[in-house]
Amino acid sequence: MGKPWYVGYFEGKSWLMNVAFTQDDIRKVIDAAKDLKYKFKAKVPTPYLVGKTLFMLFYNRSLRTRNSFEAGMFQLGGHAHFLSPQDVYTPTLPEDMIPYKTEAISDVARVLSRYGDAIAIRIYGDAAKWIIGRGHRVVEEFAKWSAIPVLNMEDDLYHPFQALADIMAVLEVIPNIKGKKFVVSYAYSGGLKPLAVPQSVAAIAAMFGAEVVIAHPPGFEFVDDIMNKIRELSDTYGGSVTVTHNMKEAFEGAAVVYPKAWSPKGFFPPYSSAVNKDGAKEYQNKFKDWIVTMELLEASGKPYYMHCGPADRGQEVTDEVLDKYEKSLYFNEAENRLHVQKAVMAMVMGSKYE
Ligand code: CP
Repeated sequence: MGKPWYVGYFEGKSWLMNVAFTQDDIRKVIDAAKDLKYKFKAKVPTPYLVGKTLFMLFYNRSLRTRNSFEAGMFQLGGHAHFLSPQDVYTPTLPEDMIPYKTEAISDVARVLSRYGDAIAIRIYGDAAKWIIGRGHRVVEEFAKWSAIPVLNMEDDLYHPFQALADIMAVLEVIPNIKGKKFVVSYAYSGGLKPLAVPQSVAAIAAMFGAEVVIAHPPGFEFVDDIMNKIRELSDTYGGSVTVTHNMKEAFEGAAVVYPKAWSPKGFFPPYSSAVNKDGAKEYQNKFKDWIVTMELLEASGKPYYMHCGPADRGQEVTDEVLDKYEKSLYFNEAENRLHVQKAVMAMVMGSKYE
């Protein structure tokens, strides 16, 4: 049995953020993911990474990411190895080393490169000391030293595999989103969530030429450089980007709404002199009315509803929407995580010549 075209297509490349790729590259991933999704459902074997190992380093908890990567590697004939940072010498940036408790990322990356075929990392929030951009620096440090591909399983700026699964889910119901209103909105949560998902989703929607509307209360602005990148992508791919502070107005006539929580960046370095988690929670508690209800979706013209999960029921969204809204893509997005990740793993870890 020959291998499909996509095995080894991006051989040796790391996948840290989708914005490092082109729309054409992303379409190639989606095409590969479609093939893998079909084969998964038809029970066609896909032994494209036999004997290969993925090391997964989770500094934060996970349901979807861990299980979809682990199951995905197994289904490709390889092995996914779970690494908890406290059970190894915690891989750490040079400024935070503690003797015999931590190990330099430069060394960990080079050791793991001798054992396997890719390293995947999740790090944000407390694990990144709530210094916005520090989690991404950790992922970049791994990529700098690793001889094998590094995969970003979510840092504090980007969640590329979530956005790939999301765009696949959207294109399954709206084959062309160019010119369609795609709302990425804040929704209230009592917890502190990173900016990774909204920034990645807005960026990928811009890469597909959507009319991107970013809705949030004052204080929830994206990181400046990433906002600039989203605008640049929108210009390149013929879409538009607008920002509003009104959720209801944003939803009106939308094709897709993606309402989820993120944290107000002004309470965290480098946007403040110290980390102020209590201040951030107190501030975001003013916006409990940023919740998605069935009434809001119906009054807006019934857009597709999206959320990366886990959604905070009763805060970001009502039970009724998650359980009964017929245009919810919530579980399709989770499902597609498996297929896009298998696609990228086959593309970067696979070889055309083996
Ligand atoms: N959406 C997402 O990354 O889910 P997990 O936190 O469960 O991995």
